[in-house]
Amino acid sequence: MPGVRGPSEYSQEPSRDPSLKEPFNAEPPRSALVSSYVTPVHLFYKRNHGPIPIVDHIENYSVSFTGLIDNPTKLSIKDIRSLPKYNVTATLQCAGNRRTAMSKVRNVRGVGWDVSAIGNAVWGGAKLADVLELLGIPKLTSSTVLGGRHVEFVSVDRCKEENGGPYKASIPLSQATNPDADVLLAYEMNGEILNRDHGFPLRVVVPGVIGARSVKWLDSINVLAEECQGFFMQKDYKMFPPSVNWENINWSSRRPQMDFPVQSAICSLEDVQMVKPGKVSIKGYAVSGGGRGIERVDISMDGGKSWVEASRTQKPGKHYISEHSSSDKWAWVLFEATVDVSQSTEVIAKAVDSAANVQPENVESVWNLRGVLNTSWHRVLLRLGHSNL
Ligand code: MTE
Repeated sequence: MPGVRGPSEYSQEPSRDPSLKEPFNAEPPRSALVSSYVTPVHLFYKRNHGPIPIVDHIENYSVSFTGLIDNPTKLSIKDIRSLPKYNVTATLQCAGNRRTAMSKVRNVRGVGWDVSAIGNAVWGGAKLADVLELLGIPKLTSSTVLGGRHVEFVSVDRCKEENGGPYKASIPLSQATNPDADVLLAYEMNGEILNRDHGFPLRVVVPGVIGARSVKWLDSINVLAEECQGFFMQKDYKMFPPSVNWENINWSSRRPQMDFPVQSAICSLEDVQMVKPGKVSIKGYAVSGGGRGIERVDISMDGGKSWVEASRTQKPGKHYISEHSSSDKWAWVLFEATVDVSQSTEVIAKAVDSAANVQPENVESVWNLRGVLNTSWHRVLLRLGHSNL
């Protein structure tokens, strides 16, 4: 790509906040997630399948548009910036979030994420629907005249899974050309120029969809007849049943995962957390995919026999109403409940989205060999003892 290149080793990685676990796939402490609705950039999880690309000459940078379109072209960052700018508050979540809990059931392959492979940011950029319209593809198109039905995003990073080739993924053209889907070519994160870790100079943000489709360090956008054939679409980020193992897996039998399911996690307590008897505040996040709001978050202190409802907020001081025009449809809600603790016990959180989808009770029922989409009830153990809580 002009102006941007992907190194083959890790000597030029950006420096990262010391509180992040693991340098390459950096995860913030869970308590950091509930300290603000918008996750600060330095505490936002980072998931990179290869070394971080380097921008040598931003003035030379351009994105190529190719494939089944009438006029293949290149757009510079200036061209992209000249389109109307949108700020979309959207939660990005890695499909492998909460994988460690899944690996306790049976071994899974993948980065050992706790509950913080997720963050909520204000992404600034041009709508992909506007960019495609500029290229002659009208809004709300599901097929181009030449038969294009999918939009592929290709990066410059070198990934071992792609045998040293770039990371890539695709979404349907109908989603890419739908202005209400809010798919962005983003150049800002929380009002700042995107940093290298998060895709400088330009990345895709596909709200409501697993993070794997939000391709960073964009090199080209291709309109294709079929979905992208890259590793991360065809041989990864798919949800298999618990019976499938590495011997009997048939990757082509499942579709690439897109929307993420309803999810929640308690972030104010570690697992295991020592507490003093008395009132304990329970805080966390809840989010669903596809733009569905969070209808309820329930907390149980007795293994799921009885539940109390937590309060939900997005913007401080504003009442959150699921699916209402005043709420951020692509963003998480933060929840809070205060409970009385008189003995050592397990605290459970489960969320319900606006389509009445509920998190599954047990991780065993959603176990899969890649450890993706663990959305089972989130549990933390409280032990009575000496603590500051
Ligand atoms: N894009 C490129 N080019 N390379 C990558 O490794 N990782 C994907 C996605 N986009 C990835 C990428 C995955 S799996 C996730 S979860 C998100 O980026 C993480 O975005 P973040 O690092 O900005 O949090």
